[in-house]
Amino acid sequence: MDFNVKVGDPDKLRTACVVVGVSAPRRLSPAAERLDKASRGQLRELLKHNDIDTECGKTTLIHHPAGRIQAARILVVGCGKDNTLSPQAYFKIVAAAAVALQASGATEAVSFLAELEVEGCDPGWKAQRMVEATRDALYRFDELKSEAEAPKRPLRKLTVAVADESDLVAARTAVRDGIAIANGVELARTLGNRPGNRCTPADLAGQAQQLKQQHKSLKVEVLERKDIEKLGMGALLSVARGSRQPPKLIVMHYKGSKAGDKPLVLVGKGVTFDSGGISLKPGAAMDEMKFDMCGAASVFGTVSAVAELGLPINLVGIVPATENLPDGDASKPGDVVTSMSGQTIEILNTDAEGRLILCDALTYAKKFDPFVVVDIATLTGACVVALGNHASGLLSNNQDLADELLEAGQTSGDRAWQLPLWNEYDEQLKTNVADMANIGGRDAGTITAACFLGRFTRDYRWAHLDIAGTAWKTGDAKGATGRPVPLLMQFLINQCAAQPAD
Ligand code: BES
Ligand code: MN
Ligand code: ZN
Repeated sequence: MDFNVKVGDPDKLRTACVVVGVSAPRRLSPAAERLDKASRGQLRELLKHNDIDTECGKTTLIHHPAGRIQAARILVVGCGKDNTLSPQAYFKIVAAAAVALQASGATEAVSFLAELEVEGCDPGWKAQRMVEATRDALYRFDELKSEAEAPKRPLRKLTVAVADESDLVAARTAVRDGIAIANGVELARTLGNRPGNRCTPADLAGQAQQLKQQHKSLKVEVLERKDIEKLGMGALLSVARGSRQPPKLIVMHYKGSKAGDKPLVLVGKGVTFDSGGISLKPGAAMDEMKFDMCGAASVFGTVSAVAELGLPINLVGIVPATENLPDGDASKPGDVVTSMSGQTIEILNTDAEGRLILCDALTYAKKFDPFVVVDIATLTGACVVALGNHASGLLSNNQDLADELLEAGQTSGDRAWQLPLWNEYDEQLKTNVADMANIGGRDAGTITAACFLGRFTRDYRWAHLDIAGTAWKTGDAKGATGRPVPLLMQFLINQCAAQPAD
């Protein structure tokens, strides 16, 4: 789908559809006001008879508008009661418009929704997020359907109308950023949505090779089982024992800055299916454990978007990939393994496997002398209980880093919420058998999981994003969300601004 930017009057544009907002009870946005005048009061007339729904996210399509309006249709989007919209309301409005346009038969449209007031957001933000939310709303995962269910007349081009010539340059950059982020989100969603039999560790390694083909700025290394053995990654290997699929440690290098600049490192949990292992999960909704590689998927999406934008940073993406299955040779509760760091771990529950594969990847990350390391993982069911599906859990050994990630979450609308990483919680990992246990009891499960990882990240600034609640949706709209690619991209873009260019 194409996006572009334009300045123009809503009544004079020759387009298949012009999109405007109207608030409750009968407040017209500036573009809606102009259309109303040009149509001899058609919009106000419809509002008066309650034929336009002003509830936030409700849409009304007007065919053949009256008067001297050049557009073939007007799509009116309800914006609710508030004068100033929250970013979340803006996303909802833009997404609703996209869905309505897709159903309208208009293959091209001009949207004036970026003129709406959004709390703390400039025209560039509104243009960028319009692209992201539109692409997000129109995404479908249909590669496994034998017959495509694509709309007959899909929306092919959306023009973002901006108020002023002076906004054009910023809006164009914003649209370009939005497209790259939407591409990254889409990749993360598609990888996440693929079932376990079509997204194995080897498939993820193949995905990395494919990215390398697409971007000259990328280098890819795939460490095989024998390499992983040589490195002494006993924790990662202990998870892979139960599976016939060999584990992979996938490393993607993006170079966008001087060779001497320390890289930012992203580590993504790549459990391509989590049955729980010998500590088998209950059967209900176990299929959703195909999403247990969404952390990895977000690393692929982010690396890809960074390469597309050519950001002036160095970035390393690390993905430990394996299945977690119960084989005769699988790890058993009580087994003790030695991690790459030398620390020994008593595996009290084989379903706490994410931390086992991540701890070795986090030790491996030291090799790159990282500027910061952020890991992303569908790590704990406890995080879903604590934060639901609105915020990702954030834990960090450095408050400045945590603040930067929280802010990136606010700006992108892909929010995170911080939990404490105190020593008192770490004590729950004590065992008299090994250096630590891989579980810390029922209480504060998200925090003890992060404390476990914290024992492997003492040498650098580190943050952990628990995306168990945010990475996918359950129910009718079951599917990966692509989160936290928008948060990570905002964080990385902000890093570029913070570093002095020379
Ligand atoms: N992948 C799961 C976490 C998960 C569960 C994410 C449900 C989303 C929904 C992880 O590997 C896991 O099984 N964690 C256990 C840890 C426990 C055994 C300490 C959990 O959360 O139950
Ligand atoms: Mn598990
Ligand atoms: Zn898992």
